[in-house]
Amino acid sequence: MKKINKGNFKKTLSTFTTGITVVATNHNSILYGKTINSFSSLSLSPPLVLFSLDKKSSKLNIFKDSKTVSINILSKNQEFISNNFAKKNPNWNEIEYDILKNENPIIKNCVSNLDCKIIDKLKKGDHIIFICKVLQVLNNTKLKPLVYYNSKYF
Ligand SMILES: Cc1cc2nc3c(=O)[nH]c(=O)nc-3n(C[C@H](O)[C@H](O)[C@H](O)COP(=O)(O)O)c2cc1C
Repeated sequence: MKKINKGNFKKTLSTFTTGITVVATNHNSILYGKTINSFSSLSLSPPLVLFSLDKKSSKLNIFKDSKTVSINILSKNQEFISNNFAKKNPNWNEIEYDILKNENPIIKNCVSNLDCKIIDKLKKGDHIIFICKVLQVLNNTKLKPLVYYNSKYF
């Protein structure tokens, strides 16, 4: 074992394979979305999930003010969507989406979309953990997921 430092910590985390999500919300009729791979299931009953957002994120206050979000689990042909929503100012014009009753967007052709209510926020280290109750889901089981490992898409 090696003593932990920033380099080997980041390297170690990059060896954990994840899917990729876009967490999205509607704030004062403007759509926001962010590429997030810190998404995780949390509880089956009640149905809870979580994701964490860097405190330095330019959109932190938007998500902190939001009561609801959609979580969009990307499919294998949506690498461009992951790259788009990792930018400071993503372009929604190139994205196909529907709007839910709560006015949040859900991205089309994802493996799954989750309609969520934010029920708690926890400050931990340099991130804020958002705990969300899942209200509705849409699954597209014919599609394969976009996979992320060692900073590369698979
Ligand atoms: C594959 C991938 C996963 C990411 N996961 C997270 C995450 O879980 N939490 C987070 O705060 N940022 C994550 N990011 C970074 C954000 O998408 C975004 O690039 C970052 O917040 C900078 O945006 P800003 O310029 O608006 O501050 C991820 C980026 C990529 C490409």
